[in-house]
Amino acid sequence: IESLTVGELAEKLHRDSSEVIKKLMKLGVMATKNESLDKETIELITADYGVEVEEEEVIDKLDIDIYTDENDSEENRTERPPVVTIMGHVDHGKTTLLDSIRHTKVTAGEAGGITQHIGAYQIEENNKKITFLDTPGHAAFTTMRARGAQVTDITILVVAADDGVMPQTKEAIAHAKAAEVPIIVAVNKMDKEGANPDRVMQELTEFELVPEAWGGETIFVNVSAIKGEGIDELVEMILLVSEVEEYKANPDKRATGTVIEAELDKGKGPVATLLVQDGTMHVGDPIVVGNTFGRIRAMVNDLGRRVKSAAPSTPVEITGLSDVPQAGDQFVVFEDEKKARSVGEQRAARAKDEERNLTNRVSIDDLFSQI
Ligand code: GTP
Ligand code: MG
Repeated sequence: IESLTVGELAEKLHRDSSEVIKKLMKLGVMATKNESLDKETIELITADYGVEVEEEEVIDKLDIDIYTDENDSEENRTERPPVVTIMGHVDHGKTTLLDSIRHTKVTAGEAGGITQHIGAYQIEENNKKITFLDTPGHAAFTTMRARGAQVTDITILVVAADDGVMPQTKEAIAHAKAAEVPIIVAVNKMDKEGANPDRVMQELTEFELVPEAWGGETIFVNVSAIKGEGIDELVEMILLVSEVEEYKANPDKRATGTVIEAELDKGKGPVATLLVQDGTMHVGDPIVVGNTFGRIRAMVNDLGRRVKSAAPSTPVEITGLSDVPQAGDQFVVFEDEKKARSVGEQRAARAKDEERNLTNRVSIDDLFSQI
């Protein structure tokens, strides 16, 4: 920061301009709200508030790039699993499709032990992992879109072959397009009497989703989630798209990512499902999550097993936070707990301030209805 007006500085500090002006007077600086302050004066004021300017930047953006990590170099970036979101109209078979993928792709030994602790999970096929997010129950996707954050790499659009394109199908397309992620269409319920995949293809051309067979670029896979038909091909297509897109992350640096869901558990306290998007997360890591912070006490993977670390694209449930974050919040692992605490507390204070100024905030519903 080179220069700020008194008003801008006050805003960054989440204080009234008049308060900052008073502080300036005490320092012998007479300034009005629109007056520019030099770097030294800014530092004096922020120091007086116990804020380091550098930290304030981290607070403002929770920007991963600003928060430097000695291991953060391009050559450390390696392949990571794709994060796939399943979307579509009510009852078109999203959950059944997810079940089918999981049951065919998770080994029998593991299947018995599965407890669906978290609404996100990984499968492995030919040594390649895929992370799936079960969107229907999760506010995360909407929230994240509203915030411009992005978790998904690929959208699977499920359309029932006997029902065709419906309102939420269109909504799902809008989401995927806004996120600028590739769409793979799964035409489901092919086993049903009235199944008409051609009609689905026809209807989707209106949304620029033209099948390869018709000279377009969209991958369509006919499936029956109930019979488990076409599932192998669908998984193959996901891996194919991943190969082309080359998703990468750096497992050597401190973890960053997004909250998928969170709640208050009576026994465990705040519990959050986090998707690690970059870096590796470890038990014991100091962490800032949205407007809260803590130290990771325990991590549980999608199979309900305790794990000590989580690599990029891995969803894990964590405990150890001081408060419940929100779906869509971003998280950053810090080097030391003091810093995490300081940033977390400042973010919490700011959130409180913002709550007071709710009037000029747009609700998620408002944003949603604009599609
Ligand atoms: P919401 O989460 O409510 O949006 O629904 P969903 O898209 O997850 O659909 P769900 O998987 O719950 O399936 C809805 C109904 O369709 C259930 O009765 C399923 O058994 C049925 N169904 C799903 N896939 C198939 C399929 O491939 N064939 C047939 N015949 N029925 C299916
Ligand atoms: Mg469902």
